Amino acid sequence: MSFWHGRKVLVTGGASFIGSHVVERLVGNGAQVSVADDFSSGKRENLGALVDELTIFEGDLKVSDLAAAACDGQEIVFHLAADHGGRGYVDLHQYACATNLGLDQSVFAACLARGVGKVVFASSGRAHESRRRQLIGEPAAGMGARSSLRQGLKGDGRLVLLDEGQRQRAFVSG
Ligand SMILES: NC(=O)c1ccc[n+]([C@@H]2O[C@H](COP(=O)([O-])OP(=O)(O)OC[C@H]3O[C@@H](n4cnc5c(N)ncnc54)[C@H](O)[C@@H]3O)[C@@H](O)[C@H]2O)c1
Repeated sequence: MSFWHGRKVLVTGGASFIGSHVVERLVGNGAQVSVADDFSSGKRENLGALVDELTIFEGDLKVSDLAAAACDGQEIVFHLAADHGGRGYVDLHQYACATNLGLDQSVFAACLARGVGKVVFASSGRAHESRRRQLIGEPAAGMGARSSLRQGLKGDGRLVLLDEGQRQRAFVSG
């Protein structure tokens, strides 16, 4: 039986492109999945028919009451909600990006207060790209997130998040 079977898992930003694939995989492995999203860039359509199987917490996770409600009773939280816009976004939208600090704080504090056992945080491969290259002695592959994600989701009972460099960044295994 899959590690995920029956586990209570929250995906913040679960309506996003990446988040919805994480949700799909978790549901496929039998997890009881909740999604917390304000649908600012995420879309219900990304969740497709799965939407009926999910508990949805709609709202801004910077609001601590919402974060607490979403994290309550969860065993594992995948934190993907972010004000995010791809390359160049940080330079052009510095205030918007800075609000992510408040968002992360709100989610992490709620996880701590509600006794969530494990938190998986989706950062950007750009945060540690040089170090990665140093460690594995290879140039960055420069693959797009879509193809990286497809490759990363092949494992059975194992969920892998990949960055743009097509390398495993974090995983939770059974
Ligand atoms: N797309 C990439 O190439 C890439 C690469 C590395 C990491 N990531 C990370 O993966 C995650 C998902 O990325 P994506 O490309 O699918 O982007 P996205 O912008 O579509 O995902 C962000 C999600 O968070 C939700 N959200 C934003 N602010 C929120 C708030 N205050 N409260 C609740 N929900 C909120 C949005 O509605 C959306 O569903 C992000 O954390 C991103 O930084 C993405």
